[in-house]
Amino acid sequence: MTQQGVTLWFTGLSGAGKTTICRRLLTELKKRNVKVELLDGDVVRQQLTKDLGFSRRDRLTNIERVAFVADLLCKHGVIVLAAFISPYREMRDYARQAITSFREVYVKCPLETCVKRDVKGLYRKAIKGEIKKFTGISDPYEPPLSPDLVLDTERETVEESVRKVMRFLEEQQFIP
Ligand code: PPS
Ligand code: ADP
Ligand code: MG
Repeated sequence: MTQQGVTLWFTGLSGAGKTTICRRLLTELKKRNVKVELLDGDVVRQQLTKDLGFSRRDRLTNIERVAFVADLLCKHGVIVLAAFISPYREMRDYARQAITSFREVYVKCPLETCVKRDVKGLYRKAIKGEIKKFTGISDPYEPPLSPDLVLDTERETVEESVRKVMRFLEEQQFIP
């Protein structure tokens, strides 16, 4: 049986858990011999979208380029893990219509918890005003209205969140 591709689109605040969950999923899916690729905001922005900043226009361009790549990959049977803040509904709606097989995963975590985690020290800088247009602090985040899956990372362990996604992929018959 040939594998049916899909793009799982992980959206959420900085520090919500997108990268942690997707890296774990990447390992887990590779172990099962599934064709899988990770597109992570921090990495993509060092390569494919190095020229872009964080204005609304640039964020949209970022998502447009990523959606193009994700669509190519998943049309060829790859499970694409796309981890982007993608803060505006408009840009997630764009990705949904641009990608042949698309599922939205909301990595849900209250801003206060993300600020407390401050994984990369970016919130501290954003609060001091050293980083402009920082999502949640000085730039908006519009939560998804009807995501296909919600991961509540304030309450779930990383293992639980990962297992939820694996179960989702099984139920939707993207993996055996
Ligand atoms: S977007 O909005 O979807 O285009 O953003 P994305 O491509 O996912 O990039 C988010 C990562 O960039 C870092 N960073 C910022 N995030 C938000 N706002 C501002 N101003 C900003 N500046 C730098 C940050 O490391 C984000 O990664 P995550 O993994 O979300 O923390
Ligand atoms: P993002 O990529 O969304 O900015 P990161 O993955 O870099 O987020 O950071 C998430 C942080 O939250 C990590 O320190 C991780 O260990 C922690 N965390 C706690 N619970 C979870 C969970 N259920 N899922 C993902 N991360 C979690
Ligand atoms: Mg990340």
